[in-house]
Amino acid sequence: MKNISDAPFLKEICSATSNMYRLGWDERNGGNISYMLNENEVAEYLDLDKVIRTIPTGFEAKELIGRIFIVTGTGKYFKNVEKDPENNLGIIRIAKDGATAELLWGYNDGGQFTSELPAHLMSHISRLSVDSENRVVMHCHPDYTLAMTQIHEMEERALTRTLWKQMTESIVVFPDGIGVLPWMVCGTNEIGKATAEKMKKHRLVIWTLHGIYGAGKDLDETFGLIETVEKAAKQYMLTAHLPKLNTITDENLVALAKRFNLDYRKDYLDI
Ligand code: 13P
Ligand code: ZN
Repeated sequence: MKNISDAPFLKEICSATSNMYRLGWDERNGGNISYMLNENEVAEYLDLDKVIRTIPTGFEAKELIGRIFIVTGTGKYFKNVEKDPENNLGIIRIAKDGATAELLWGYNDGGQFTSELPAHLMSHISRLSVDSENRVVMHCHPDYTLAMTQIHEMEERALTRTLWKQMTESIVVFPDGIGVLPWMVCGTNEIGKATAEKMKKHRLVIWTLHGIYGAGKDLDETFGLIETVEKAAKQYMLTAHLPKLNTITDENLVALAKRFNLDYRKDYLDI
């Protein structure tokens, strides 16, 4: 059996959490990640017949039975993941009943997965239903995105248009636009269901006055989606109170869509 410290998936999630912390996206225990792993890959490092303990998830995820995820722990700080992964992360497998997590590694101090597991697992189900390559769901609290939710209309078309017009790369990176939820109590099955519903059409969902969810085929892609939204939100927050002399027009957006062959939300343009 190989040493799990050398596992590429562990190194990747450690470096993602450290980068996210340093960018200010994950204060204290803010944010969480779930990353679906390949069973054969995990079997190189862990005995898959050895379940440390079982933890009820509080909801049924039949579509994910047998799937294995590495998930950040609830109450754990992203800042600390890299120096102590076995305490701050866990590897879980969804048991045959669909409602229990079998702990295969981690949560060493008796802890458990993020309180946002419903939003994560339900979002995995939604994304997998439209994209079989999806592996990652990532949640965090980036400053400018969060600030924007205080002052911008929280309507999907309006918000997406504003973000697309902040910088040229926006529509190229997220042509499918941004899903938006109103303020809701976090860590519940209700917000999980609402997020997953949005995830059927979007890889990005903003929770008003809370943060953002991203989904993608790997940690880099998902990180990049959130990073691009945050950059656009930063442009907005740096300039919203200033007179605008130059802006990206709807015609410019169409030209970008042609150049990059984008499958974009045409109904979001006024053309
Ligand atoms: P957890 O510590 O349970 O992951 O919660 C952090 C968070 O961001 C809640 O939305
Ligand atoms: Zn949060």
